[in-house]
Amino acid sequence: MTPAAIVAIPPAMTDALPTPRPGITDIQAYTPGKAGAEGVANPVKLSANENILGCSPLAREAYVAAAVNLAQYPDGRGAALRAALADHYRLEPNRLILGCGTDEIFALLNQVYLCAGDNIVQGQWGFGAYAIGARANEGEVRFAPERHYRIDVDAMLAAIDERTRLVFLANPANPTGTFITEAEVQRLHAGLPPNVLLVLDGAYAEFNTDPGFDDGLKLARDAHNIVVTHTFSKLHGLAALRVGWAYAPAAVADAVERIRPPFNTSIPAQAAAVAALADTEFQARALALVEQWRPWLTQQLAGLGLDVTPSSANFMMMEFPATPGKTAAQAEAFLASRGLILRGLAGYGLDNHLRVTIGLEEHNRAVVDALAAFMAA
Ligand SMILES: Cc1ncc(COP(=O)(O)O)c(C=O)c1O
Repeated sequence: MTPAAIVAIPPAMTDALPTPRPGITDIQAYTPGKAGAEGVANPVKLSANENILGCSPLAREAYVAAAVNLAQYPDGRGAALRAALADHYRLEPNRLILGCGTDEIFALLNQVYLCAGDNIVQGQWGFGAYAIGARANEGEVRFAPERHYRIDVDAMLAAIDERTRLVFLANPANPTGTFITEAEVQRLHAGLPPNVLLVLDGAYAEFNTDPGFDDGLKLARDAHNIVVTHTFSKLHGLAALRVGWAYAPAAVADAVERIRPPFNTSIPAQAAAVAALADTEFQARALALVEQWRPWLTQQLAGLGLDVTPSSANFMMMEFPATPGKTAAQAEAFLASRGLILRGLAGYGLDNHLRVTIGLEEHNRAVVDALAAFMAA
C-alpha cells in the first residue's frame, strides 16, 4: 500500500478509526537533551545531566559478563538487585520497586493512582515526565508557583484539592538545580491529606551535600504515603541501561507490582547496577568532581554577567540578559558550533535559560571560554 493510500480515508470513516484516549494527542512528547551538533565531530554532550566520568569499570565488567545470558528472561523481581539495595540502604526488600528508569516508576504511579479528572501537583518548573504520565491518564497537572526557582511549600499545599492524588517533588530539582530542606519536606508531608501520595524524586540527591538536606528515605520509613525514588542514571553513570528504584509503603509497592511489565529491568542492567552500587570508589570520584567544579563554574558564569541559579546537583541553570544578540538560543547555537552541547529550556517555559552538566575540567573551562567570547562579541 502506498503512503497516499494510507492517508486517503473517507471523512465518514474517521470515527471508526483507532482513537487515542482523551488528552493523549495534546501531550507534548518529552524532548531529550540534544546529543549532537550539525557539522561538529565529537561534540561534548553537557545536555542531559549524565555522569561525565562514564560508569564504574566494575559495572561495565558485570554488563559484559551478562552477555552469556541473552537468551534468558530476567528475574522479573530483580532479586539480586533488590537484595543489594536493601542491604546498602537498610531498607525492607518487599517495599522496593524496580523500574526501567525512574521514568517508568513515575508512569506506573500515575497509572495506579489517577482516575480521569484527578490531579497531580508539582512545582512550576517541575521535571517534564511527571506531567506526561498524569495527562496520559486523563489527569490534570497543577503547577505550584516557585520563588526564585525554588519549591514553595505553601504554594504546593495551596494547589492541593480533593482531586489531588499525587505530589511530585524532585529534590534537588531539574532543571533548576535547587532543593528544599528536610524540614520543608516534613512540613509539606505534614500538610498533605492522608490519601495523597508524596513522590520524592532523588535523581540528584547524592550530589547535594547541604547538611539541611535529606533524600526522604528516613521520613518514608514510617509513612503510609511517601515514595522515594532514586536512579542509576546519574551518580552511577548507567543511563543507557535504564534502572531506577523506589522505596514505597508496602501497599503502594504491591499495587504497582500488579501492573508492572514483568521483565522491565534486563539481566545486564540488573548485574551492572549491583556492581555499581558496590563501587563506592567510583561514586566518590564522581561526587568529588562535581563538588570541585560546581562552585568554580557558578562563580565564573556569574562573572560573565549570567544569572546563575545556585545548584545542588550535577548541573546548573543560567539565565541570559535581555539584550538582543545575547539570548539563550543564540548562546546555545554559538556553543554548539564550538562542540559544546548545552540544554535549551524553552520546553520548560524558561526561554532565556540554558542548563549545563558539570563536566571534566577541560569541558568546564571550554564552556566558560566560549561563553566569555559569546558575551563579549
Ligand atoms: C528529576 C529527574 N528525575 C528522574 C529522571 C529520570 O531518571 P531515569 O533515567 O531513572 O529515568 C531525570 C532524568 O533526567 C530527572 O532529571
